[in-house]
Amino acid sequence: MTKCSAPGKMILFGEHAVVFGKPALALAIDLRISAEMTRSAQYSVNGHAMKKKHHAYISAALDQAWGGPPINIDTDSMIPSGSGLGSSAAVTVSCIAAMLLQKGKLEVEEVARRSFEVENKVQGRASPTDTSTSAHGQGVLVSPEKLDGFLWRIEKGDRTWHMHHCSVPTLRFVVGYTGIHAATGPLVAKVKKLVESSPEAKGQVDRIGEIVLEGVEALRRTDKKKLGALMNENHALLNALGVGHPALESLVEASKEFSYGAKLTGAGGGGSMIALTDEPKKLAAAIRAAGGEPIMVEVGCEGVRAEQ
Ligand code: PMV
Repeated sequence: MTKCSAPGKMILFGEHAVVFGKPALALAIDLRISAEMTRSAQYSVNGHAMKKKHHAYISAALDQAWGGPPINIDTDSMIPSGSGLGSSAAVTVSCIAAMLLQKGKLEVEEVARRSFEVENKVQGRASPTDTSTSAHGQGVLVSPEKLDGFLWRIEKGDRTWHMHHCSVPTLRFVVGYTGIHAATGPLVAKVKKLVESSPEAKGQVDRIGEIVLEGVEALRRTDKKKLGALMNENHALLNALGVGHPALESLVEASKEFSYGAKLTGAGGGGSMIALTDEPKKLAAAIRAAGGEPIMVEVGCEGVRAEQ
């Protein structure tokens, strides 16, 4: 039957602040997940009977976009799960795409919309950053307003996000995975509580929003020094919002010698950090020596696609 693949992502700027309606910038990375659909006697994943709880995203994707006869979905993933690199979005996007392709046509915007609904249902609350980046690929700027490079708009309740295409120059990033799995929901709730009670925290969220837009300009100019400085500032603000972790801090510290800048990426509380560098091998060794798992990634990669 059909097979599709989709990339993971890293958030370059704006995580958490995006939940408060601020902009965010995410880049697709060259770690992909593929999903292959075949006819089967029962609904199954990788040959095992599907369990709604265990296969939450795939099962919700089936509810969202299938409705045909029982199928088996074989997944193949290059993305460590729980690392903050968008594995749940990539699995959702590749499954939805395979189902739509099987039913007729793979349209990227439709894949992005349906995949957002799946993530939102499974997680209770989500922004469409991960799913739209995995679907579109390259770079995606999420913003409350419509700007240049507009792709599509997604609305949920009283929230509206505008997705924009961002071209990504060749840049070298190394991810440092702490190996610590931290659930996104409680971290988002923690920041919400802080921002509602502290004007200082609200100011920090506002500043992150500005950093994102300055970051988009620096990315256009391939200004690595400026990008690095903005990453460092964004990281300090995320620490101030309480989503840092000592393991992330040691990886960020260890990166300093070989990078333009470094920050946690995604929800924080563990997960991963990213650093921008011209010396990926030395940086990877420093991350490893500090106890992290280095992952060299290319950014600005292709979004969802059909596979042979
Ligand atoms: O957990 P991740 O890597 O998907 O990142 C979550 C990003 C947040 O801004 C914290 C939440 C969101 O839904 O945008």
